[in-house]
Amino acid sequence: MNFKIETIGCQMNVNESDNISQTLISLGAAQTDDINDADIVILNTCSVRAQAEQKAFSFLGRAQELKSQKKDIKIAVIGCMAQRLGLKIKNRFKSADLIVGTKDLDNAAQKIAALFDKPLIRHCGQDRQSPAISSFVTIMRGCDNYCSYCIVPFVRGRQTSIDSQIIFDECINKVKNGTKEISLLGQNVNSYLYNGLNFSGLLKQISQIDGLERIRFMTNHPKDLSDELIDTAASLDKVCKHIHLPMQSASNVVLDAMNRKYSYEHYLGLVQKLRNKISNISITTDIIVGFPNEEQKDFEETLEAVEYIRFDGLYAFRYSPRPQTKSALMPDAVPLEEKKRRHRIILSRSNEISSEIVSKMIGSKIEVLVENYENGILHTRTQGGRKIFVEGKIEQVGKILPVIVKKAKINALFGDMEI
Ligand code: 5AD
Ligand code: SF4
Repeated sequence: MNFKIETIGCQMNVNESDNISQTLISLGAAQTDDINDADIVILNTCSVRAQAEQKAFSFLGRAQELKSQKKDIKIAVIGCMAQRLGLKIKNRFKSADLIVGTKDLDNAAQKIAALFDKPLIRHCGQDRQSPAISSFVTIMRGCDNYCSYCIVPFVRGRQTSIDSQIIFDECINKVKNGTKEISLLGQNVNSYLYNGLNFSGLLKQISQIDGLERIRFMTNHPKDLSDELIDTAASLDKVCKHIHLPMQSASNVVLDAMNRKYSYEHYLGLVQKLRNKISNISITTDIIVGFPNEEQKDFEETLEAVEYIRFDGLYAFRYSPRPQTKSALMPDAVPLEEKKRRHRIILSRSNEISSEIVSKMIGSKIEVLVENYENGILHTRTQGGRKIFVEGKIEQVGKILPVIVKKAKINALFGDMEI
């Protein structure tokens, strides 16, 4: 049995898809990238913006067409949209054989395997694939913040922190199998709390794992990022000098309507603290343009903040009203064309800043982790999360090496190994 898994959405989804793939492989299935080779097509979905849902529907359209030619193919829809819409997905796509929402994902692999008449026979010797050099570990599920635009608390449910022992064991296992870098995932890892252990405590525990070289974590919430956590991150060598800290807007009127519970001044204070305590820290962010009460002057405040803070990178989104959310009750006042304009301006300014930042990296020596090897080229990553391509050998995969940056583009840098 061959399966193809397509993933839309955040890193949480990527991780959940990986886990399902690993389980299916351990049950005897084989993964394929080519939908035409697949006996089963799995789509892991996202509900955060309407666009992500449209993308899922168009993928399902293609899968349905394939099924009309190849009748015994099975289609499974999993994740956030499956949770939100459930069997309603079948109204549009009768050919979907299985729908598994986020709250039932632990059983998804078994349910997918059960779609087949013949039980999957576990082949001797074919074990779980060895995990990647860099892998994800989920530490929390759900979210309690109810930002007024966000559908996540409705789809993924209340926030729960996973047992720290389970997290620790999963990290140890991954490291034993060759992982060098672990990214701890949750909608707001800053509010992790399990039996009195907070996120700083968890980071300290995980950083003691021998053989683990790098730790990342995401995502953070400016209202919960504590001094204790900044100090802990600064004191632990394994923690990468990078933080993704979604700002969303720099206008206090908009932040208030978004129910973000911090002011721009507070956000700026965090940026300054992070930069003082962790030299060369890379800071990335998320921004929403065209929120219902965002006026031209509010947008300009955000643009000025982007210029003042000089983020290492940012994701900008056009506001999308989502069912059940509080902001969906406000009139979607900013016209689409205006949202597009603001989006374009933010992105082009941020791209200019990013290219200034990367061009200053030319000539400098940077430590990278080698994640992959392809045709004589090593795919490596800086602590800040930037990719650097370097000539090298396959034996160097998994190593931390110094490279000298030779050429720099926004999305990729090219370097030479230091000899
Ligand atoms: N519209 C636009 N962007 C959104 N995000 C979340 N909900 C919405 C929405 N309704 C963005 C936020 C968040 C990121 C993951 O997605 O910026 O940080
Ligand atoms: Fe959504 Fe806000 Fe929770 Fe992030 S913190 S998942 S934006 S509700």
